[in-house]
Amino acid sequence: MENKKIRIALTKGRIENKAVDLLEKIGYDVSELRNKGRKLILSVPNENIEVVLAKAADVITYVEHGVCDLGIVGKDTIMEHGGRFYEIADLGFGKCKFALAVKKGTDFFAGYGVKTVATKYPNVTRGYFEKRGIDVDIVKIEGSVELAPLVGLSDGIVDIVETGTTLKENGLEVFCDVAPVSARLIVNTVSLKLKQERVLEIAKLIEENL
Ligand code: PRP
Repeated sequence: MENKKIRIALTKGRIENKAVDLLEKIGYDVSELRNKGRKLILSVPNENIEVVLAKAADVITYVEHGVCDLGIVGKDTIMEHGGRFYEIADLGFGKCKFALAVKKGTDFFAGYGVKTVATKYPNVTRGYFEKRGIDVDIVKIEGSVELAPLVGLSDGIVDIVETGTTLKENGLEVFCDVAPVSARLIVNTVSLKLKQERVLEIAKLIEENL
Protein backbone atom coordinates (compact mmCIF):
# COMPACT_ATOMS: atom_id res chain seq x y z
CA MET A 1 0.00 0.00 0.00
CA GLU A 2 1.40 3.38 -1.00
CA ASN A 3 1.73 5.84 1.86
CA LYS A 4 1.89 9.25 0.21
CA LYS A 5 1.31 12.12 2.60
CA ILE A 6 -2.26 13.39 2.62
CA ARG A 7 -3.24 16.84 3.78
CA ILE A 8 -6.86 17.46 4.75
CA ALA A 9 -8.30 20.99 5.05
CA LEU A 10 -10.94 21.14 7.73
CA THR A 11 -13.38 24.00 8.27
CA LYS A 12 -12.95 25.59 11.69
CA GLY A 13 -15.99 26.01 13.89
CA ARG A 14 -19.38 24.31 13.56
CA ILE A 15 -18.23 21.45 11.32
CA GLU A 16 -14.93 20.91 13.10
CA ASN A 17 -15.99 18.81 16.10
CA LYS A 18 -18.17 16.47 14.05
CA ALA A 19 -15.35 16.00 11.56
CA VAL A 20 -12.85 15.21 14.33
CA ASP A 21 -15.35 12.71 15.80
CA LEU A 22 -15.54 11.09 12.38
CA LEU A 23 -11.75 10.81 12.06
CA GLU A 24 -11.65 9.27 15.54
CA LYS A 25 -14.35 6.76 14.60
CA ILE A 26 -12.21 5.68 11.67
CA GLY A 27 -9.53 4.82 14.23
CA TYR A 28 -7.19 7.75 13.70
CA ASP A 29 -5.35 9.26 16.66
CA VAL A 30 -6.99 12.71 16.94
CA SER A 31 -5.30 13.76 20.19
CA GLU A 32 -3.47 16.66 18.49
CA LEU A 33 -6.76 17.85 17.02
CA ARG A 34 -8.49 17.68 20.39
CA ASN A 35 -5.70 19.62 22.11
CA LYS A 36 -4.81 21.99 19.31
CA GLY A 37 -4.46 25.24 21.25
CA ARG A 38 -3.77 27.88 18.61
CA LYS A 39 -2.00 25.49 16.22
CA LEU A 40 -3.32 25.45 12.67
CA ILE A 41 -1.55 22.37 11.29
CA LEU A 42 -2.07 19.17 13.22
CA SER A 43 -0.76 15.73 12.45
CA VAL A 44 -2.52 12.40 12.72
CA PRO A 45 0.23 10.16 14.12
CA ASN A 46 1.16 6.99 12.23
CA GLU A 47 -1.07 7.80 9.25
CA ASN A 48 1.05 10.32 7.35
CA ILE A 49 -1.96 12.64 7.44
CA GLU A 50 -1.87 16.34 8.24
CA VAL A 51 -5.00 18.33 9.09
CA VAL A 52 -5.10 22.04 8.30
CA LEU A 53 -7.71 24.21 10.04
CA ALA A 54 -9.10 27.03 7.92
CA LYS A 55 -12.13 29.18 7.26
CA ALA A 56 -14.65 27.59 4.91
CA ALA A 57 -13.84 29.60 1.77
CA ASP A 58 -10.13 29.04 2.38
CA VAL A 59 -10.66 25.27 2.61
CA ILE A 60 -11.85 25.44 -0.99
CA THR A 61 -8.91 27.64 -2.00
CA TYR A 62 -6.36 25.26 -0.45
CA VAL A 63 -7.95 22.24 -2.12
CA GLU A 64 -8.28 24.00 -5.49
CA HIS A 65 -4.60 24.93 -5.40
CA GLY A 66 -3.64 21.39 -4.52
CA VAL A 67 -1.81 22.25 -1.29
CA CYS A 68 -4.49 20.18 0.45
CA ASP A 69 -5.67 16.93 -1.12
CA LEU A 70 -9.00 16.68 0.66
CA GLY A 71 -11.32 19.18 2.28
CA ILE A 72 -14.31 19.12 4.58
CA VAL A 73 -16.55 22.12 3.97
CA GLY A 74 -20.21 23.13 3.99
CA LYS A 75 -22.31 22.99 0.84
CA ASP A 76 -23.22 26.64 1.54
CA THR A 77 -19.65 27.73 0.83
CA ILE A 78 -19.38 25.37 -2.15
CA MET A 79 -22.56 26.85 -3.66
CA GLU A 80 -21.41 30.41 -3.13
CA HIS A 81 -17.75 29.98 -4.04
CA GLY A 82 -17.82 27.31 -6.76
CA GLY A 83 -14.41 26.16 -7.98
CA ARG A 84 -12.48 23.34 -9.61
CA PHE A 85 -12.53 20.28 -7.36
CA TYR A 86 -14.56 17.11 -7.02
CA GLU A 87 -17.28 16.88 -4.39
CA ILE A 88 -17.18 13.20 -3.52
CA ALA A 89 -19.37 12.70 -0.46
CA ASP A 90 -22.22 14.20 1.52
CA LEU A 91 -21.07 13.76 5.13
CA GLY A 92 -24.58 14.25 6.50
CA PHE A 93 -23.58 16.46 9.43
CA GLY A 94 -23.55 20.25 9.66
CA LYS A 95 -27.12 20.14 8.41
CA CYS A 96 -28.92 23.45 7.90
CA LYS A 97 -30.55 25.25 4.99
CA PHE A 98 -30.51 28.38 2.92
CA ALA A 99 -33.80 30.20 3.32
CA LEU A 100 -35.43 33.43 2.29
CA ALA A 101 -36.59 35.12 5.49
CA VAL A 102 -38.77 38.15 6.06
CA LYS A 103 -40.22 40.15 8.95
CA LYS A 104 -42.81 37.99 10.67
CA GLY A 105 -46.18 38.10 8.94
CA THR A 106 -44.82 39.77 5.77
CA ASP A 107 -45.49 38.58 2.21
CA PHE A 108 -42.20 38.96 0.33
CA PHE A 109 -44.03 39.19 -2.99
CA ALA A 110 -46.67 41.72 -1.91
CA GLY A 111 -46.82 44.84 -4.09
CA TYR A 112 -45.26 45.48 -7.50
CA GLY A 113 -41.82 47.01 -6.87
CA VAL A 114 -38.53 45.15 -7.30
CA LYS A 115 -37.65 43.63 -3.92
CA THR A 116 -34.33 44.04 -2.16
CA VAL A 117 -32.61 41.04 -0.60
CA ALA A 118 -29.66 41.34 1.78
CA THR A 119 -27.27 38.41 2.04
CA LYS A 120 -23.76 37.18 2.68
CA TYR A 121 -24.34 34.84 -0.27
CA PRO A 122 -24.99 36.96 -3.40
CA ASN A 123 -24.25 34.15 -5.87
CA VAL A 124 -26.63 31.71 -4.20
CA THR A 125 -29.28 34.45 -4.00
CA ARG A 126 -28.85 35.52 -7.63
CA GLY A 127 -29.03 31.91 -8.79
CA TYR A 128 -32.20 31.25 -6.83
CA PHE A 129 -34.14 34.26 -8.13
CA GLU A 130 -32.78 34.07 -11.69
CA LYS A 131 -33.91 30.47 -11.97
CA ARG A 132 -37.41 31.64 -11.10
CA GLY A 133 -37.29 34.66 -13.40
CA ILE A 134 -37.73 37.06 -10.48
CA ASP A 135 -35.93 40.40 -10.61
CA VAL A 136 -34.45 41.41 -7.25
CA ASP A 137 -31.83 43.86 -6.02
CA ILE A 138 -29.16 42.11 -3.99
CA VAL A 139 -27.21 43.88 -1.25
CA LYS A 140 -24.06 42.14 0.02
CA ILE A 141 -23.79 42.16 3.81
CA GLU A 142 -20.81 40.77 5.73
CA GLY A 143 -22.55 39.48 8.86
CA SER A 144 -25.63 39.71 11.10
CA VAL A 145 -27.73 39.89 7.95
CA GLU A 146 -30.87 39.71 10.11
CA LEU A 147 -30.39 43.42 10.78
CA ALA A 148 -31.08 44.46 7.18
CA PRO A 149 -34.88 44.02 7.06
CA LEU A 150 -35.21 45.26 10.64
CA VAL A 151 -33.66 48.62 9.83
CA GLY A 152 -35.39 48.84 6.46
CA LEU A 153 -32.46 48.11 4.16
CA SER A 154 -34.13 45.11 2.53
CA ASP A 155 -37.42 43.28 2.11
CA GLY A 156 -35.86 39.97 2.99
CA ILE A 157 -32.63 38.07 3.56
CA VAL A 158 -31.18 34.89 2.17
CA ASP A 159 -29.19 33.27 4.92
CA ILE A 160 -28.31 30.05 6.70
CA VAL A 161 -30.98 28.79 9.08
CA GLU A 162 -30.03 26.02 11.47
CA THR A 163 -32.23 26.04 14.58
CA GLY A 164 -34.21 29.13 13.55
CA THR A 165 -33.36 30.84 16.85
CA THR A 166 -31.61 33.84 15.29
CA LEU A 167 -34.61 34.57 13.06
CA LYS A 168 -37.08 34.11 15.89
CA GLU A 169 -35.22 36.31 18.34
CA ASN A 170 -35.15 39.07 15.76
CA GLY A 171 -38.81 38.93 14.73
CA LEU A 172 -38.13 37.26 11.39
CA GLU A 173 -39.43 34.02 9.87
CA VAL A 174 -38.69 31.74 6.94
CA PHE A 175 -40.70 32.75 3.88
CA CYS A 176 -39.45 29.85 1.77
CA ASP A 177 -36.59 27.35 1.70
CA VAL A 178 -33.85 27.95 -0.86
CA ALA A 179 -31.55 24.91 -0.59
CA PRO A 180 -30.48 22.24 1.90
CA VAL A 181 -26.93 22.40 3.26
CA SER A 182 -24.59 19.85 4.87
CA ALA A 183 -20.88 19.16 5.12
CA ARG A 184 -19.20 17.72 2.02
CA LEU A 185 -15.93 15.93 1.30
CA ILE A 186 -14.06 17.55 -1.59
CA VAL A 187 -10.90 16.43 -3.35
CA ASN A 188 -8.30 18.15 -5.50
CA THR A 189 -8.54 16.99 -9.11
CA VAL A 190 -4.83 16.19 -9.43
CA SER A 191 -4.63 14.42 -6.04
CA LEU A 192 -7.40 12.13 -7.21
CA LYS A 193 -5.11 11.02 -10.04
CA LEU A 194 -1.66 11.11 -8.42
CA LYS A 195 -2.64 9.91 -4.93
CA GLN A 196 -5.68 7.96 -6.02
CA GLU A 197 -5.12 4.91 -3.84
CA ARG A 198 -4.76 6.85 -0.57
CA VAL A 199 -7.41 9.42 -1.38
CA LEU A 200 -9.98 6.76 -2.20
CA GLU A 201 -8.97 4.68 0.82
CA ILE A 202 -9.55 7.65 3.15
CA ALA A 203 -12.80 8.60 1.37
CA LYS A 204 -14.02 5.01 1.76
CA LEU A 205 -13.16 4.95 5.48
CA ILE A 206 -14.98 8.25 5.95
CA GLU A 207 -18.10 7.01 4.16
CA GLU A 208 -18.09 3.72 6.06
CA ASN A 209 -18.01 5.57 9.37
CA LEU A 210 -20.69 8.19 8.75
C1 PRP B 1 -25.43 31.72 10.79
C2 PRP B 1 -26.48 32.53 10.08
C3 PRP B 1 -27.42 32.92 11.19
C4 PRP B 1 -27.29 31.79 12.18
C5 PRP B 1 -28.47 30.87 12.06
O1 PRP B 1 -24.42 32.54 11.25
O2 PRP B 1 -25.92 33.65 9.42
O3 PRP B 1 -27.06 34.16 11.75
O4 PRP B 1 -26.10 31.07 11.86
O5 PRP B 1 -28.43 29.86 13.03
P1 PRP B 1 -29.73 29.48 13.87
O6 PRP B 1 -30.85 29.22 12.87
O7 PRP B 1 -29.36 28.22 14.60
O8 PRP B 1 -30.04 30.61 14.79
P2 PRP B 1 -23.09 31.94 11.92
O9 PRP B 1 -23.31 31.63 13.34
O10 PRP B 1 -22.61 30.81 11.06
O11 PRP B 1 -22.09 33.12 11.90
P3 PRP B 1 -21.73 34.13 10.74
O12 PRP B 1 -22.67 35.29 10.93
O13 PRP B 1 -20.30 34.46 11.00
O14 PRP B 1 -21.94 33.41 9.43
